[in-house]
Amino acid sequence: MAHRPNSKNELSSKLLSRSSATRRKPIEFCFLSLFPEVFPPVLETSLLKRAQENGLAKYSFVQIRDFAQDKHRKVDDTPYGGGEGMLLKADVLYAAWKSVGPRRPRPGSKTKAKAATILLSPQGKKFDQEMAKEFASYSKLVFVCGHYEGVDERFIDLCVDFEVSIGDYVLTGGELPALVMADAISRLIPGVVGNARSVSGDSLEGDLLKYPQFTRPREFQGLTVPDILMGGNHKAIQTWRQKEMEERTRLKRPDLWEKYLRKKGSG
Ligand code: ADE
Repeated sequence: MAHRPNSKNELSSKLLSRSSATRRKPIEFCFLSLFPEVFPPVLETSLLKRAQENGLAKYSFVQIRDFAQDKHRKVDDTPYGGGEGMLLKADVLYAAWKSVGPRRPRPGSKTKAKAATILLSPQGKKFDQEMAKEFASYSKLVFVCGHYEGVDERFIDLCVDFEVSIGDYVLTGGELPALVMADAISRLIPGVVGNARSVSGDSLEGDLLKYPQFTRPREFQGLTVPDILMGGNHKAIQTWRQKEMEERTRLKRPDLWEKYLRKKGSG
């Protein structure tokens, strides 16, 4: 029940093709963490900073410990039944989560706002470009960054819409995964990356890796730029690039290649 299915959303592709001028309110990213100081240095850099300055994205941070209920500001406790490590307490997390008001639209309500609460966890569904696109269509995303051995399951049942992992390895906490997700999602918001075509030509768009690219000088350390790119024949260049994309994907990422072939076969 904690992992509500991540349904495909037609809205995301429509939103991607809209100009920034017609976009709704900024997408809100809210980070619940025991280490909120981790976020600003990343979010106040480069494109993510510009997204905020241009009113396309809004970032906020909540210190979970501020919602501890006792005088020792205790946020974790030992698991019932015994076992290793400490768990983040459901009551503390719940209070922190309530403070950011991640209201979900009631069934039948007319509001189009979509909010989701995401728990970063190595047990979650693996994050990918498709998921980033889906989340880019939301109006508010609340990231809950776990620490210690995990979180009390009741918080997951009550508040979490998606459990997401950024890969099959265990990190010390959910802060870096939340930043990875926020970066991947933010750059899909129309207007964040200057040239919309550079998003649609990304590696992984269409399940293929990107073709090799070169800039000046034409010769470097004895290596030259392929002649085809110098000839100005755009059709030939496009054909060469498509071939390179397929060849690279087949060699470097057989898993993606299989996916590509499956989709091509069924489409
Ligand atoms: N927390 C610890 N490891 C993680 C991972 N791989 N993905 C998401 N959250 C995590």
